[in-house]
Amino acid sequence: MKKVALIFGVTGQDGSYLTKLLLKKKYIVHGVKRRSSSINTSRIDDIYQEPFVKKKNFILHYGDITDGISIFNLIKKTKPDEIYNLAAQSHVAVSFKIPEYTTNADAVGTLRILDSIIKLNPKIKFYQAGSSEMYGKVQSFPQNEKTPFYPRSPYGVSKLYSHWITINYRESYKIFACNGILFNHESPLRGETFVTKKIVKAMCKIKNGRQKKLYLGNLYAKRDWGHAEDYVEAMWRILQYKNPEDWVICTGKQYSVKQFVNLVAKYLRLKLIWKGKGLYEKAYLEKKVPIIEIKKEYFRPAEVDTLKGDASKARKFLKWKPSKNINYLIKDMVEYELNQTYED
Ligand code: NAP
Ligand code: GDD
Repeated sequence: MKKVALIFGVTGQDGSYLTKLLLKKKYIVHGVKRRSSSINTSRIDDIYQEPFVKKKNFILHYGDITDGISIFNLIKKTKPDEIYNLAAQSHVAVSFKIPEYTTNADAVGTLRILDSIIKLNPKIKFYQAGSSEMYGKVQSFPQNEKTPFYPRSPYGVSKLYSHWITINYRESYKIFACNGILFNHESPLRGETFVTKKIVKAMCKIKNGRQKKLYLGNLYAKRDWGHAEDYVEAMWRILQYKNPEDWVICTGKQYSVKQFVNLVAKYLRLKLIWKGKGLYEKAYLEKKVPIIEIKKEYFRPAEVDTLKGDASKARKFLKWKPSKNINYLIKDMVEYELNQTYED
């Protein structure tokens, strides 16, 4: 019997990589996409061309994480062995602008799935897409499964609710429900307003003479950036482990936004010279033209200054470790971007 997976958030970065992974593992994959006025399946459209995709092993359904009826009906209809909850309003800065919606989707959405599981089939395994944003104002360094949380945004607070409600349902109803606490992970499929993609896309366009300037916010925030392809493998391993537990997934290496910019510039052979401080800091190309400037609007009301994880537990028990480093990530993102054709 083939295993059946149901993915909420199938149209996102991770949804795309996870779908491919599960199809290669011979799962039947049901994906939940939400209704939008323009087509939102660009990250998964190519999957239908893959040789391992047969007619009925990848099926999309309309649904929404803020709509409990659709969630209940989809779980009932698709009868999954595993559910992956990747659906979220996943942009931290945007969560300050739409906090109520973010809470509805990112916090209560998880409760809706969990409650449907215990009503329909408590044997379903559940993966919750938790985040290193829950560590926020970090309480110890590096962060592991025992580090106390201190979220700094409506997004982080919502994810923390999801973390604890997943543990609460696991303990109360003995279901196989797990939290992955994933640090930042990127890829060519990363959303365009996250900082890595924004930097790569703009700098490739600057290199090709299609853009003049890139505006950024806090250059000194530090992140532990991995590759999404590695991280979806961890999600799957988490649900195959003998016990339902919570897991930190990260690289253990940390770079600032400015270091990321410099690495992309180096790959593109752009010679950057940084001058000035604070809001007046600028990066010049060949000493003359400023190509990067700072804009106050890209700073957040409360920042997560530094994140660096410790994935020893996953290394030891899941036998998981990242296979791709930051240089590979940048090469992958830049090469993808350079191959894009733009209408402008
Ligand atoms: P993403 O690219 O933003 O994808 C989010 C997915 O959720 C998209 O498919 C989106 O649909 C869907 N979605 C949003 N609101 C929804 C709603 N109301 N109902 C149904 N679906 C909805 O995010 P990602 O980078 O793949 O991340 C996947 C998950 O991991 C998210 O929960 C994120 O918060 C979490 N996470 C990500 C990272 C990271 O660094 N990438 C780290 C830790 C945790 P549309 O395509 O229609 O927008
Ligand atoms: N987006 C963005 N745009 N961020 C900027 C910019 C800019 O112009 N300039 C500086 N930054 C800084 C942000 O202030 C933040 O400190 C850092 O770059 C990373 O920002 P994002 O790429 O937006 O990611 P994030 O760390 O806030 O959140 C991502 O990772 C989380 C895991 O830690 C998202 O994928 C979340 O969904 C995920 O949970």
